[in-house]
Amino acid sequence: MTRVLPVDPHHPQPDRIAQAAALLQAGELVAFPTETVYGLGANALDATAVSKIFAAKERPAYDPLIVHLHEADALPRVVRAVPALAWRLAERFWPGPLTLILPRAAAVPTAVTAGLETVAVRVPAHPVALALLRAAALPVAAPSANRFGYTSPTTAAHVLADLEGRIPLVLDGGPTQIGVESTVLDLTADQPTILRPGGVTREALEAVLGPVRLARQPAAEETAVPSPGLLPRHYAPHAHLVLFAGPPLAVRNAMQRRLEAALRAGQRVGLLLTEADRPLFAPWAGRARLEILGPAEDPAAFGQALYAALRRLDAAETEIVLAHTLPPRGLGLAINNRLHKAAAEVVRLED
Ligand code: TXA
Ligand code: MG
Repeated sequence: MTRVLPVDPHHPQPDRIAQAAALLQAGELVAFPTETVYGLGANALDATAVSKIFAAKERPAYDPLIVHLHEADALPRVVRAVPALAWRLAERFWPGPLTLILPRAAAVPTAVTAGLETVAVRVPAHPVALALLRAAALPVAAPSANRFGYTSPTTAAHVLADLEGRIPLVLDGGPTQIGVESTVLDLTADQPTILRPGGVTREALEAVLGPVRLARQPAAEETAVPSPGLLPRHYAPHAHLVLFAGPPLAVRNAMQRRLEAALRAGQRVGLLLTEADRPLFAPWAGRARLEILGPAEDPAAFGQALYAALRRLDAAETEIVLAHTLPPRGLGLAINNRLHKAAAEVVRLED
């Protein structure tokens, strides 16, 4: 049985936070909201507690976890030598959606880091997450609170859909703000390197650091992708997601052709669209599910709505989902990355 405990997202009730903190201190799991997605937390210094995360999520042991702290001053508990650069970034971006890869302190069990000599750390910005971390007075290892490989949860209902009966408690603080995961920045490489684009944009990091490398993603927008091609899937819905990339006009035309073909084949079709797409796809509104995620010029709204829309389309047993990339600026970079990881097929159109 999984208990769902509602908490005020802005002013979390101390008695409710205390119940969740007591579970963490007892070596149990607690799902909680962060500003990005819901996390599944355990005491990061307790290897047995951490092993429960891998079991509940069916996550392979080779995938390391992020350690969450309530403040940057706690870094030396989990990091061996904190470089000056980490303090600077912490000052500018914490609490917030930036995860730093740093040298692991001996106190961190290798189960957390999947045997690596580095550890991922961040201070989340959500009041519920911060209150929980402070009350537990522990570093908390927490991946996204979904079954491994599936779409990350942005509501407590999403967590239950994946983990009901496998964890004792979910703190329900409502839908999360950012909706895509944190940016993972490796500070142990020769040059600061973004391993996963996320809630803190590359532009914001570059304003502090100068040029920042983006690790070659199997999925990044800049990468030439075979068209159409198969990609390693993660964050994936059950439906067959076809991602279109290229000049807007060509993309809309190709999407409409594919939409017609899928409908002719009798498939249930869903579309992930921007406000600007709405009039172009309105003629199909009766025959396909249109998910309008936000204005094209506001990737923040699109990101916040993305995972919930993918889960709604799966719940409606949609067989094929058509989507297109956003301009790869700001949060658009992270959104395109997640769309590529969710895609079963990429159609790249040329000018
Ligand atoms: O926004 C987020 O980051 C959410 C919330 C809950 O904080 N967490 C999250 O965790 O997305 P997870 O486990 O789904 O993703 C963690 C990512 C993975 O891509 C993992 O490979 C990477 O961080 N990671 C963790 N430790 C690492 C390390 N030592 N070196 C390189 N990558 C690491
Ligand atoms: Mg995850």
